[in-house]
Amino acid sequence: MEAKLKGVKMELDDCAFPLLHKINTTSNLSLGFKDCDAVFLVGSKPRGPGMERADLLKQNGAIFVEQGKALADSAKRSVKVLVVGNPANTNCLIAMKNAKSLDSSCFNAMTRLDHNRALSQLAEKTGSATTMIQKLAIWGNHSSSMYADLHNCTVDGKPALSLVGQEWYENTFIPTIAKRGAAIISARGASSAASAANSAIDHMRDWFLGANDWVSMSVPTDGQVYGIPKDLIYSFPCTVTNGQYKIITGLELNDFSKAKMKLTTDELVSERNDIEYLLK
Ligand code: LMR
Repeated sequence: MEAKLKGVKMELDDCAFPLLHKINTTSNLSLGFKDCDAVFLVGSKPRGPGMERADLLKQNGAIFVEQGKALADSAKRSVKVLVVGNPANTNCLIAMKNAKSLDSSCFNAMTRLDHNRALSQLAEKTGSATTMIQKLAIWGNHSSSMYADLHNCTVDGKPALSLVGQEWYENTFIPTIAKRGAAIISARGASSAASAANSAIDHMRDWFLGANDWVSMSVPTDGQVYGIPKDLIYSFPCTVTNGQYKIITGLELNDFSKAKMKLTTDELVSERNDIEYLLK
């Protein structure tokens, strides 16, 4: 472990980042999180052969209990924690609930990778640049139940759905985004790496520096928006101002969207039920 950390440090040194002044490596959580402003929780065990989702949640859950407690002990009260390790939303919930002295708004999970995947697929289909796309939304869990929503999305100011048609949207776009993680694993023989790292940087940069257009962020729920129950980490379209994310509220949801959102909500509730004992 310490030897591997040495290797990571060597690579970071070799990047010669202009703003990187000092690197401390440690496997001691409290030391590692001491006075942190930004934390990326990337470590979790991948699912092995024959493992059920509940087994994965149980094993990874224990890691996030410890990390949540250590964050509460030693990180800054304003820390921004981004959970990337899977199952990211429920791992984030575990860390948040075990960091009792930190505000829940310190905790996010990453669905920016799904958001970026959706931008890129839509840009390719419409022959546009990703920068021409606005108001795209990923709802729910970072899993194949997520819902990539184009109902409010525009490409160069035109409604995305009218450009791509319902058939492509439902039968190609949504499943492609939902299964992209698995497709990458099958192509590379390993989980996404560079695109996941890039999305983690996108998420944290926007959380600190702001985002005017919608970005998808998995954030703690309070039971007040879109009928999503309290105490989940759920992906919503958000904007960010002065370091505070804000869920886009008041959107009209049609029956198609409501059904998709219920599916991913039900999955998150079932994951939470599996690890309820870790949330005490
Ligand atoms: C991804 O979306 O690429 C990963 O979260 C997939 C995985 O299970 O590692």
